[in-house]
Amino acid sequence: MADKKNKNIILTGDRPTGKLHLGHYVGSLRRRVELQNSGKFDEINILVADDQALTDNADNPQKIRDNMIEVALDYLSVGIDPDKTNICVQSQIPALHAMTFYYMNMVTTERLSRNPTIKNEIHLRGFDKAGSDGLPAGFFTYPVSQTADITAFKANCVPAGEDQEPMLEQAREIVRRFNMTYGEVLVEPKIMLPDSKAALRLPGIDGKEKMSKSLGNAIFLSDDAATLKKKVMSMYTDPAHLNIADPGHVEGNCVFTYLDAFSTDQDFEGTDYANLDEMKEHYRKGGLGDVKCKKLLIKVLNRILDPIRESRHEWEKKIPDVYDILKAGTAHAVAETNETLHEMQKVMRINYFDDDSVIKEWQDWIER
Ligand code: TRP
Repeated sequence: MADKKNKNIILTGDRPTGKLHLGHYVGSLRRRVELQNSGKFDEINILVADDQALTDNADNPQKIRDNMIEVALDYLSVGIDPDKTNICVQSQIPALHAMTFYYMNMVTTERLSRNPTIKNEIHLRGFDKAGSDGLPAGFFTYPVSQTADITAFKANCVPAGEDQEPMLEQAREIVRRFNMTYGEVLVEPKIMLPDSKAALRLPGIDGKEKMSKSLGNAIFLSDDAATLKKKVMSMYTDPAHLNIADPGHVEGNCVFTYLDAFSTDQDFEGTDYANLDEMKEHYRKGGLGDVKCKKLLIKVLNRILDPIRESRHEWEKKIPDVYDILKAGTAHAVAETNETLHEMQKVMRINYFDDDSVIKEWQDWIER
């Protein structure tokens, strides 16, 4: 297992709190499929983080149960291949719980309070509001549990969006502290950010926050063509661009942000433009209407979403197979993470029942 240190291992995950959307697609899913098919990795794991989802949904486990299958279908339909990528379910992997508990001792509440992503999420969920029930300790400490997710697989690479960087920083700190205190068992993970700027933080169709189910501004991978059309047509553009002849702004204009993220030069064949830059130029000068841009965007998005919809449709007829994929992937993860846990417990001197040499040790201790 020590040789795992020189391997290229990926671990990523998602909370099953809703269907996955285009933000997930540009930010992570698209990349995961590329990485999976690159042949450059010794092992790729995707964790459906249902325990993490419970940290702010403790009273609604059914929501997580329902979305477990939605997220699994989303993975399979974008091209995650269970023969190449191990898909597993967090709650069914006991080693993760044990590790989380040990890591709790490797971090202070003060340090956890400084995590900017958590701060923002606490605020978004209103846990800091007067009159709220307060902040669940499980939610506050989920970065510790996420460290367990990553390190249990000895992952050195975590493809994720920039909002996950504070989580990775926290993970590295815990790893260093553990390795220094007990012995070199854990691997320091690095984030692998999306390669395109536009993919870093896809805004919602309202142009405001990042795309999210709870903000109601998402285009889901499972949206049909009619729903997609409606959403794109309602998209936020440039509020100052009142008449077609007016000069328009491309920056902060959702339609162009999306075209940046999704279009290729090929999408412009048969249009008045050779590429996106030329179209932007025309929009800036004036004389190009929003509807025309939106129609192109719909075409681009359907090019991407059509095969995903088709594949999803097929998988939806094979739910028992999806169940088996999750079950087998989880069994594999259980074995693997138990190995890491045992190594940890060994250097922590709490591996009492691994071997009975401790009997002699105790006898000597008592007779000293
Ligand atoms: N926090 C991630 C999210 O909000 C989900 C997640 C859980 C994760 N465990 C992980 C991501 C480990 C990367 C690595 O979607």
